[in-house]
Amino acid sequence: MNEPYIWKHFERLKKLVEYEEEEEIETFREEFLELSPEEREAAGKTLRNLKWVDTSFSPAGHTLITLSRKNQTPLPFYTLDVGDIATLSSDSSHLKSPHGTVYERDRTTITVSFNKIVTEEFLGGTLMLNKTANRNTYETMYGALDAVNKAKHGRLHYLRDLTFGLKKPQTGDPGEIRFFDEGLNEPQKKAVRMAVSAKDLALVHGPPGTGKTRVLVEIIRQAHTQGDFIFATAPSNIACDNLLERLVAAKLPVLRLGHPARIMDHLRDHSLDHQLALHPYAKMLEELQHEIDYVYKRRNRKRESGYYRRGAARPGELEDFNREIEQLKIERRNLSVQLFNSVIQEARIIVGTQVSGASDLFGGKTFDLVVLDEASQSIEPLTWVPLCRAKRAVLAGDHYQLPPTVRSTKADEGGLSRSLFERLMPSLPDESKSLLTIQYRMHKHIMGFSSAEFYDNELVADPSVAEHTLAEMEGVVDNDKTREAFLFIDTAGCSFEEAEEPGTQSRFNQKEAELAVKQLEELLSFGVKRENIALISPYSAQVRFLESLLPEKEKDIEVGSVDGFQGREKEVVIVTLVRSNLEGELGFLVDKRRMNVALTRARRKLIVIGDSATLSSIPFYRDFFVYAEKIAGHRSAWESTD
Ligand SMILES: Nc1ncnc2c1ncn2[C@@H]1O[C@H](COP(=O)(O)OP(=O)(O)O)[C@@H](O)[C@H]1O
Ligand SMILES: [Mg+2]
Repeated sequence: MNEPYIWKHFERLKKLVEYEEEEEIETFREEFLELSPEEREAAGKTLRNLKWVDTSFSPAGHTLITLSRKNQTPLPFYTLDVGDIATLSSDSSHLKSPHGTVYERDRTTITVSFNKIVTEEFLGGTLMLNKTANRNTYETMYGALDAVNKAKHGRLHYLRDLTFGLKKPQTGDPGEIRFFDEGLNEPQKKAVRMAVSAKDLALVHGPPGTGKTRVLVEIIRQAHTQGDFIFATAPSNIACDNLLERLVAAKLPVLRLGHPARIMDHLRDHSLDHQLALHPYAKMLEELQHEIDYVYKRRNRKRESGYYRRGAARPGELEDFNREIEQLKIERRNLSVQLFNSVIQEARIIVGTQVSGASDLFGGKTFDLVVLDEASQSIEPLTWVPLCRAKRAVLAGDHYQLPPTVRSTKADEGGLSRSLFERLMPSLPDESKSLLTIQYRMHKHIMGFSSAEFYDNELVADPSVAEHTLAEMEGVVDNDKTREAFLFIDTAGCSFEEAEEPGTQSRFNQKEAELAVKQLEELLSFGVKRENIALISPYSAQVRFLESLLPEKEKDIEVGSVDGFQGREKEVVIVTLVRSNLEGELGFLVDKRRMNVALTRARRKLIVIGDSATLSSIPFYRDFFVYAEKIAGHRSAWESTD
């Protein structure tokens, strides 16, 4: 492997990201062209007939523009959401429409935050907000890919070469470690030791329910006591909040970057905006802003009164005002830089999405440690964003679960959904990888197949869950069915045929759905609580069909897609696989990773409904049926239909 190879790799990634961006822009464009403004508004993508109400400033210095309907009527309930990116256009101006982020919403007003000042002229007309693609994310990725590709020496160059096996990761001796989290199991402690001794790159491979995030929190704690400056990150805001929540619970000092709008309510105290507002400089900044506004007003009054009337400006007076405004603005900028620096300097652990790792806030500062949770859910270009500033990094994930979602088929086929974590798993030496093997979720029968198929039979169910059943739960009847943890219901030969949903290319299977609901009702009759049950399917059409079968009062039962259920768990999970056809056509059921996710969500009872005759077309499912027989968990739908 050599330089041209590396160069090609990053050029290709850049191309794939471009496909992805084009796809996103195209989706927005199509909606824009195909739908009338009225339809777009009804679809929640546009707000029309708006007028300007107020301008203010966020603690971080963003311009906040508040808008309402011209006729003061309430905004539609289903519309742009907090955190969405939107452009503001005005019928009174040909200026380029600025991009902002929806900051707040109530019944009649919507507030959007902008990085730049929006002029009064622009705000004078009838305004419209349009939801749009997030360019910033793409720009940041292109920047990171270029930086990695061009790195000639230094840390980034070294990390890059490591990922191609051109250099070997270095390890040191961590000495005796005192663990803060005394409940860690042996494989978890081993992972912490490995990560602490790694001088550049380490991977924590954690199958479902094995405590990846818990291990990362301990790794961060260890590094924190060494005085490290740490960036803790994850591909989604939800995953960042999860990490933040656990770090806060461990009483660590954390600062959460990102739009407050996208951070969960109870965690907003840790947000940058909030911490900036608490700082003594914030008050000074606000006063300075008032002063600027005041001088503006005086200047404008002078200007509007013309040169010849009373109160008119003396020659050179307007220029004096302008100079004063410039001066105050420079002061404002300096103060705001000082404010940021002081908050960031004091912070030792920063949490934010990968893109926020590129923020100007950090100046040229590098992170002693970057920790990436759910690393297998991130496309490689995004992961390089924080790595560009890292001295060392620890990535945790599981490449046998679903990869990151990629919208563009071209980008997907080109390999964009392959995470850096997945690329590194086979190439890094064993000393830089650690497998977590004890899981705290599934009954051993539920775990068994996944463990054999994906993890070399290395998974162990912790004694606290290995034999737990529904029968042990309060209010649940003790019988064969509530004691049994794993059941495959085979619909082969029952003529439960799949169908295509009109208008989409998704599939559903009516008979399977009805059988699933029957199973569900039986469990309810045994006393299992509704909130402990989930119905999931790989096919969105089946999800919709299942929802239509459940009466309104059953809304506590979660119905969802397998993809959407990644990272989650329930006491009972019923999976319907849908595919049943003579050709043995499996569609995206052939992706074993999707099945791994589907089969590892249940804690005490897993019911899988599918057609073995169709599914047997690939060895994976044949193994699954053999497994079900072996643990006496295979039954025909014939026996279950009456
Ligand atoms: N050493 C442990 N002892 C007891 N429970 C644990 C341990 N490690 C993890 N768990 C439990 O397992 C569940 C999953 O942990 P988490 O760190 O969220 O895993 P992951 O990030 O791999 O999904 C949590 O409920 C957690 O409390
Ligand atoms: Mg986790």
